[in-house]
Amino acid sequence: MKNILILYATNWGVTKQCAEMLEKQLNQRYTVTVMDIQKERPALSEYDVVILGSNIRMGKINRAMKKLLQEEAEYLSSVPTAVYLCLGYPRQFEEYAELELPKKLTCSLGVHCFGGELKPEKLRGIDKWIVKMVRNSIRTQDFEESDTDHHQLPEILPENIVLLADKIKSLN
Ligand SMILES: Cc1cc2nc3c(=O)[nH]c(=O)nc-3n(C[C@H](O)[C@H](O)[C@H](O)COP(=O)(O)O)c2cc1C
Repeated sequence: MKNILILYATNWGVTKQCAEMLEKQLNQRYTVTVMDIQKERPALSEYDVVILGSNIRMGKINRAMKKLLQEEAEYLSSVPTAVYLCLGYPRQFEEYAELELPKKLTCSLGVHCFGGELKPEKLRGIDKWIVKMVRNSIRTQDFEESDTDHHQLPEILPENIVLLADKIKSLN
């Protein structure tokens, strides 16, 4: 039976929630371990498949996750690996992936956008204030602009989580 690691980095729980949604898709068939990179640094070699999830803040992936990706890029490129990102601007997903992931990293299971949330009621402090402002600016976009220029409020994208789970299930 395959051993799967889902290692996530979160501030407010959405990236963890996505890790658990992915786990649910897989745990009937495989042994799945879900871990918080800010609490533990697992031995990657103990797993057959490695899934790494990070939120995006101020255009950046989590610092601990970035460090791991840089240090382990060579190893991760040699085993079935996927990265997923949780973010408020899904339309900028490719740009974040391009700028933030090490060039020497090849993810054989792909780099995935799992969406995200901008829900100030779930946050505290400065983050609550920032998310409130971003959310309001999305809601009050100038509707004279063409629709294609508009950002939508983000949501978790369960269909993308299922796509990654299917990719993992198709491994021999
Ligand atoms: C302080 C702060 C900065 C953020 N910066 C970005 C950003 O630069 N780009 C983006 O797409 N989303 C940004 N977001 C949105 C988060 O990526 C989104 O809320 C995500 O769901 C957070 O995941 P988490 O709950 O796992 O931390 C930001 C959110 C906060 C609170």
